[in-house]
Amino acid sequence: MVAAVIDGKAFAEGLRGRVAEGVAAFTASTGRKPGLAVVLVGQDPASQVYVRSKGKATIAAGMESFEHRLPETTSQEELIALVRRLNDNETVDGILVQLPLPKGIDEQAVIATIDPAKDVDGFHVINAGRLAVGEEALVPCTPLGCLMLLKDRLGDLSGKEAVVIGRSNIVGKPMAQLLLQQNCTVTIAHSRSKDLPGVVRRADIVVAAVGRPEMVKGDWLKPGAAVIDVGINRVDGKLVGDVDFASASEVAGAITPVPGGVGPMTIAVLLRNTLVAAHARAGLAPPEGL
Ligand code: GUN
Repeated sequence: MVAAVIDGKAFAEGLRGRVAEGVAAFTASTGRKPGLAVVLVGQDPASQVYVRSKGKATIAAGMESFEHRLPETTSQEELIALVRRLNDNETVDGILVQLPLPKGIDEQAVIATIDPAKDVDGFHVINAGRLAVGEEALVPCTPLGCLMLLKDRLGDLSGKEAVVIGRSNIVGKPMAQLLLQQNCTVTIAHSRSKDLPGVVRRADIVVAAVGRPEMVKGDWLKPGAAVIDVGINRVDGKLVGDVDFASASEVAGAITPVPGGVGPMTIAVLLRNTLVAAHARAGLAPPEGL
């Protein structure tokens, strides 16, 4: 079998187009644009690239972008004071504090300060809890993007065996919750799991989010499985995923490439979450088709 390659870039472009239409409608009915504030502390080169792309995409979607760049030496108290000001700013619908934060700043304490209604990353415990109990929540962007790609490819996910490799709060755990909500039978595997190839071989759906270059091999897969590769690893100057694409694409039914798979979805979903948050804050029904 040769797997179909899932074109995340094309799907993300479509989603960004639908968000831009929703933004125009929101702006026409409320008289103001949705606003997204992004906070970057320090000089981490990868984070600088992400923050610049987020700002550009926000403006391209017709939203207001507020960028706050703070020095590496910023204290936790100063950062928390900024988040409080953004909470109180009516023109700000979404707040994203870029992670990782410099050493000495407690990430959870900062995230806990964000107004859950503006938590477009979905990292606040209130949103994690709402997702877990099946209430309306702002959901982390990367796993929500993975779910959109899976539903687009497979349709109904009910009864499917899903294996999520990785248990981070940003990807693995919310991914598992989303798949459970879709009536999948979900296994979360991680670095201490025994016989990982044996576990993965049961899966109709594999989501790899471990940060180990090309760890998942083709002979770990059930033939026809849908494989979502969240990994972004730089090896000898080249980007590779957590899945060995060459061998996996000979066994899988469908697979996301790196780059061009999950990556472009994250920012598109961030824009979507910001538009959803803006509607909720304005007392409007959620935008449709997103
Ligand atoms: N760093 C890496 N991924 C993310 C993300 O999705 N959100 C934030 N805030 N920081 C990140």
